[in-house]
Amino acid sequence: MGFQSFDMREPMSSHKGRKLLIVGLVCSLVIGFTIGILVGHFGIGKESDDGLPSAPGANTGEENPLISDLIMEGINPNNIRDNLKKLTGDVHVAGTPADRQQAEELRLFWEGHGLKANISSYNVLLSYSDDNDPNKAYIYSNDSAQEFETPDRENLTGVNDTFPTPYLAYTPAGNINVTEMVYANYGRLEDFRDLSAIHNISVSGRLVIARFGQISRGEKIRLAEERGALGVILYLDPADYNLNNSKVYPDDWWLPPTGAQRGSTFAGDGDPLTPGYPAIDSAYRYSENTTQPPLPGIPAVTIGYGPAKEFLKIMQGENVPDDWIGGIAVNYTFGPGLLDNKKVGLRTSNRNENRTTYNVFGIIKGSIEPDRYVLLGNHRDSWVYGAIDPTGGTAVMMELSRVMGDLFKSGQWKPRRTIIFCSWGAEEFGLIGSTEWVEEYIKNLGNRAVAYINLDIAVMGNHTLRGLGSPLLYTAMYDAARKVDNPDEDERNAGNHTVFHTWLENHRDPKKTDVPTIGPIGLGSDYASFQMRAGIPCADFRYNYDPKLGIAFYPLYHTAFETFHLLDSIMDRNFEFHSAVGKVCGEILRSLSDSVILPFNMSDYADKLTDMYDSLNTTHGDTLRQRDIRLDYLDEAISQFSTEAIAFNTKVGNIDKTNLVETRMVNDQMMQIERSFLDPSGLPGQPMYRHVIQTSSVFSGDSFPGLVDTIANAETDDTEDRWEVVKQHLSVVTFTIQSAASTLRDVTDFISAVET
Ligand SMILES: *[C@@H]1O[C@H](CO)[C@@H](O)[C@H](O)[C@H]1NC(C)=O
Ligand SMILES: *[C@@H]1O[C@H](CO)[C@@H](O)[C@H](O)[C@H]1NC(C)=O
Ligand SMILES: *[C@@H]1O[C@H](CO)[C@@H](O)[C@H](O)[C@H]1NC(C)=O
Ligand SMILES: *[C@@H]1O[C@H](CO)[C@@H](O)[C@H](O)[C@H]1NC(C)=O
Ligand SMILES: *[C@@H]1O[C@H](CO)[C@@H](O)[C@H](O)[C@H]1NC(C)=O
Ligand SMILES: *[C@@H]1O[C@H](CO)[C@@H](O)[C@H](O)[C@H]1NC(C)=O
Ligand SMILES: *[C@@H]1O[C@H](CO)[C@@H](O)[C@H](O)[C@H]1NC(C)=O
Ligand SMILES: *[C@@H]1O[C@H](CO)[C@@H](O)[C@H](O)[C@H]1NC(C)=O
Ligand SMILES: *[C@@H]1O[C@H](CO)[C@@H](O)[C@H](O)[C@H]1NC(C)=O
Ligand SMILES: *[C@@H]1O[C@H](CO)[C@@H](O)[C@H](O)[C@H]1NC(C)=O
Ligand SMILES: *[C@@H]1O[C@H](CO)[C@@H](O)[C@H](O)[C@H]1NC(C)=O
Ligand SMILES: *[C@@H]1O[C@H](CO)[C@@H](O)[C@H](O)[C@H]1NC(C)=O
Repeated sequence: MGFQSFDMREPMSSHKGRKLLIVGLVCSLVIGFTIGILVGHFGIGKESDDGLPSAPGANTGEENPLISDLIMEGINPNNIRDNLKKLTGDVHVAGTPADRQQAEELRLFWEGHGLKANISSYNVLLSYSDDNDPNKAYIYSNDSAQEFETPDRENLTGVNDTFPTPYLAYTPAGNINVTEMVYANYGRLEDFRDLSAIHNISVSGRLVIARFGQISRGEKIRLAEERGALGVILYLDPADYNLNNSKVYPDDWWLPPTGAQRGSTFAGDGDPLTPGYPAIDSAYRYSENTTQPPLPGIPAVTIGYGPAKEFLKIMQGENVPDDWIGGIAVNYTFGPGLLDNKKVGLRTSNRNENRTTYNVFGIIKGSIEPDRYVLLGNHRDSWVYGAIDPTGGTAVMMELSRVMGDLFKSGQWKPRRTIIFCSWGAEEFGLIGSTEWVEEYIKNLGNRAVAYINLDIAVMGNHTLRGLGSPLLYTAMYDAARKVDNPDEDERNAGNHTVFHTWLENHRDPKKTDVPTIGPIGLGSDYASFQMRAGIPCADFRYNYDPKLGIAFYPLYHTAFETFHLLDSIMDRNFEFHSAVGKVCGEILRSLSDSVILPFNMSDYADKLTDMYDSLNTTHGDTLRQRDIRLDYLDEAISQFSTEAIAFNTKVGNIDKTNLVETRMVNDQMMQIERSFLDPSGLPGQPMYRHVIQTSSVFSGDSFPGLVDTIANAETDDTEDRWEVVKQHLSVVTFTIQSAASTLRDVTDFISAVET
């Protein structure tokens, strides 16, 4: 179908720009009186409550073009370094006194820089290991003598080495001994299926050992538990986390043998005891054994490749296929027998606890539209020192908020809309702080939030920017990246002057060639409930390693080796990459909070829908047609959305930008778009995920997530009922697109469709 692309906010030539500015000034004199009345009516003072002068032309709606430069120039890499050094001086796991103290310090920091700051807290179910009785896996001889035990924690020098011991949050305490163990590759559905269907090996009554990667930890454990396994050992394989026997930390960023990945195993979002609703005093709470989805029922440990070798070494049975072989110097076998009839055991001591987690907010109140919020958030909790995840992001957010706060405090800038910086608690346990907050204020946010920008990890490599986001924000994301100088000297010398150039080189969109691809918003960080439950468009930026490296993730992820040293001496020696991420986030935040017309591009959404349609038609079109499930209505709805988007854009180009009511009306229409894609009853089988376009799909694919998943389900289990679910959801997807199109129509003409 190929929709014509257009740019909502084409940059003006300087000549044209100047002319417009003069016209704008004259206009503002002439219509000043009218605006005065409007302003009075809407309770918006030319002088705000605090008596600060407005930014130039604020009431005529024109943003101050100098602010962008002031923000960029203000961001200082040394401050980011100092912030990171201070924040990583301590372990700051959610629900601990250190976490509470960092929340309090951040509140004071924000107050010191002119922001209004608040802390909000929730009592939620978290999970901890017992450092006096660390989780361990053991090897015993056939007469029960202990031959090996996994180390208490990573072998880490140069910092306080009594940091928390590794564990898999929410797995239960347990104590088991077995005589048989099975290697399950990545522990995916297809791995377990191959084990039983091809190799005739059951995991029932046995221990499972599997490598990290490909799917979530919780999913691996759930699949093993469903098949009767008694316990699970998850380990980091060098094939995924330390390529070519490279030099390891503290000399390089690769994983040492004792590095163990911590992490949550809860499959839901938010407090496990209050699904769908905020964990406030009046909340109904489920018990630990009735949560949905359920918490894991079998013990599991997380270990490094050093100790893993001891277990793989004693496994018997046939050799595994080539694509199951990892990078440890052993013969990988399936098991289940063990050499010399040895035994293996697990002893874990985790416990779930009711603890308090804190969110901190720093607010710069908007001068013209204070009831429109632009949010930028980052989680504060980490598993150990968390230098990469998330503390590099926290260090960047602090610096950006300092710069913006100081500009505000000194009267140089008053953003049009309200900016809210958010520091989330307990993200690591299941996006808990952000989810509870969205749950508590979903009515306020659903009506008033313009966008949410997420900053979790800021730098997990120094090769290229990478972005995730709603199509509504693609253009704003590109525009922000185009304004930021490339922090990599070699890239600058190669002619890639901005971060955008390098981003494009590494993620060229095969269909568009002149812009990089932006991934969909999924479940990976605090954006999830904003996008999928509240329909607030989200974007997420970070600097990444070379995607062509072929590793599972950055090697030291969630290990104790995520220290200040790692970033300061190995990955970002001058903090220029952190700084670049801060500038990209700062520019998009400025643009969203200060532009008269929101920098949302409807046509990017139309193009995205077209791509999703094409992918669906290519992959499943024939199957669907054979079952007489037709895609015509969907096709038509997308065309209609596209037509409305173009008409809407023309209209926006012609409105009087000095008229507050007119600008507010078109901005509200644009804000409505993302909300229109929500279906109140949620995706089939996933009531919490209500966004039919931007929701994480189980079976992946670059098409409508609910359709991809329901079709896959129907193909696996070919029953009439399942195909009925597909038909039903297809009509919901079609309807949400029709309804999105209707919100773009002129405000009294929405009832009849425009001719196409
Ligand atoms: C939020 O912080 C402001 C000061 O910045 C304070 O006046 C107000 O009471 C706080 N609100 C809450 C709910 O703590
Ligand atoms: C496992 O075996 C070890 C060594 O014999 C023993 O100390 C431990 O109590 C056993 N655990 C269970 C649950 O039997
Ligand atoms: C721990 O580190 C020390 C010093 O680098 C080294 O001597 C020792 O062998 C390491 N132990 C393990 C288990 O890697
Ligand atoms: C190291 O950390 C532990 C646990 O957080 C703490 O009790 C101890 O005081 C710290 N030691 C030093 C030297 O800071
Ligand atoms: C599969 O394994 C079971 C138990 O080990 C055995 O009884 C059965 O014969 C095996 N089936 C095949 C097809 O090899
Ligand atoms: C759930 O746990 C509670 C204690 O927290 C216990 O009293 C109850 O019997 C358990 N219910 C089930 C179904 O296991
Ligand atoms: C792997 O098995 C082969 C024989 O199949 C043997 O020659 C080799 O020594 C074994 N390697 C290790 C590391 O055990
Ligand atoms: C028990 O282990 C010893 C080595 O520790 C081995 O020599 C012996 O054969 C084993 N016994 C059995 C029954 O496997
Ligand atoms: C959790 O602790 C708080 C006090 O910190 C208490 O008010 C709340 O009732 C507790 N909740 C549960 C489920 O135990
Ligand atoms: C950017 O750098 C790459 C090499 O990494 C080079 O191929 C490309 O031409 C450069 N782009 C520009 C715009 O110079
Ligand atoms: C980029 O990261 C690599 C390690 O992946 C490191 O060798 C290099 O020095 C880093 N560059 C900068 C400027 O820090
Ligand atoms: C869908 O796919 C079919 C078969 O490949 C093709 O004929 C048709 O034109 C496609 N429909 C659209 C709207 O692209």
